[in-house]
Amino acid sequence: MDNKKVHIKSFGCQMNKLDTALVRSALDAAGFVLVESVKEANVVLINTCSVRDHAEQRVLSHLGHLKHIKESKPDLVVGVIGCMAQRLGEKLLEHEAVSIVCGPAQIPQIADLVTEALRHNKKELSVTEQIRKPAPQTGSDALEEFESAYGLADKQVPGQAFVRAMRGCNKFCTYCIVPYVRGPEVSRQPEAIIDQIKRLADDGIKQVTLLGQAVNSYQYKTAEKTWSLADLLAAAAEVEGIKWLKFITNYPSEKYFDEILHVMADSPKVCPHLHIPAQSGSDKILRAMNRRYTADWYLALLDKARDIVPDIAIAGDFIVGFPDETQDDFERTVDLVKKAQYRNCFVFKYSPRPGTTADKRLEDTVAPEVKQARNVELLAVQEEISDRLSRSFLGKDITVLVEGPSKKPHLNAAASGNNPQLVARTAGHWIVVFNGPKSLAGQFAKVKITKTSPLTLFARLT
Ligand code: 5AD
Ligand code: SF4
Repeated sequence: MDNKKVHIKSFGCQMNKLDTALVRSALDAAGFVLVESVKEANVVLINTCSVRDHAEQRVLSHLGHLKHIKESKPDLVVGVIGCMAQRLGEKLLEHEAVSIVCGPAQIPQIADLVTEALRHNKKELSVTEQIRKPAPQTGSDALEEFESAYGLADKQVPGQAFVRAMRGCNKFCTYCIVPYVRGPEVSRQPEAIIDQIKRLADDGIKQVTLLGQAVNSYQYKTAEKTWSLADLLAAAAEVEGIKWLKFITNYPSEKYFDEILHVMADSPKVCPHLHIPAQSGSDKILRAMNRRYTADWYLALLDKARDIVPDIAIAGDFIVGFPDETQDDFERTVDLVKKAQYRNCFVFKYSPRPGTTADKRLEDTVAPEVKQARNVELLAVQEEISDRLSRSFLGKDITVLVEGPSKKPHLNAAASGNNPQLVARTAGHWIVVFNGPKSLAGQFAKVKITKTSPLTLFARLT
């Protein structure tokens, strides 16, 4: 038991965080003890992200650090799991610090791999040779069993849980590594998902977020019917105890769009929040990205969403500095952002990913300083919009779901009295900060908005 102390570090998206949660509970069930620091650990696992080079560089520098630690602690077992493990496989195993490399599809084996590495002090590789091999539409494969067994509340954010609706991606946007490291789209059985949500509700979970790289592509054929995300949301809304349902991320597509939006309009549990990345506002760039729409078509889709759900909050992602993006292309993106009126959007600088079509066929032509300037400019445009939209909340009474104590002090910290600053989210996913008792973590609270800023609403309990 003495050598069964594991520290896990996690990088990347919600999908990765969910994998980390599954790995944590699987290791816990196998008798390992999860520890908060590398110092206490015999095993360090890093769940990695490959979506941009920067994310991989951070992992590599972490591995460099662990290599130093291993000089004085040679028995320390270091494992790399997740997307980077799948992408680099054998090459990562050559790193002096690394003993285990385990791809996202192999996480059900993680407890065995760690046990073996501890026992024999030898290197272990487990990645899928052909990650894009179509997986059968069945509920009985190892990943599905792993998910059903360990997909319980991870208690990281009280009252909230993430549930995978589907794995993988078939969209092949030319810049994106995800289809190569996470494999083909596989929708999970609706019964397995609903059953998991029921168990989470029994465990006190109030908000479930359904996850998929393009979650609106969810489709599952049963003998009776073909399930869409709309059907899944409607069935999840029937689960007693679940109060809010969210889903991320959406690919701009007409398929099932109206149905999903109508469920949102009709069910008070389905939150009026839509994360639907455009990536660019230039049709030329969208074509080169293999995004299958034009800027006008995308904006019309947002209009439709607002017709069906008038109070909907929309969020997006953009990549600036894609190969051959001219100033004119960038201005079209600025124009789209102004028209889209997002609650918020993330902006990323293009990062060539080895093996993707964009990397193979297109040169990374936009200079780093131009990418940086466009990034800053686009964020500034969005900030003005977020600022204006956030002001419309001033003086309003709203319901929020409390996450817990705020990690950083905010503007109204001085007025905190004896209560800590809490951070919460609205149904539309706005961040709300207010002073209140810690016991509200995981609970709904009614607050009045007293002050606003582009990204944060400030409030007091009512
Ligand atoms: N470079 C920069 N950003 C990227 N994204 C995906 N691939 C890349 C890349 N190669 C961004 C997209 C996506 C988000 C998760 O990451 O905007 O929506
Ligand atoms: Fe990547 Fe495009 Fe799939 Fe999103 S939809 S994961 S950007 S390939």
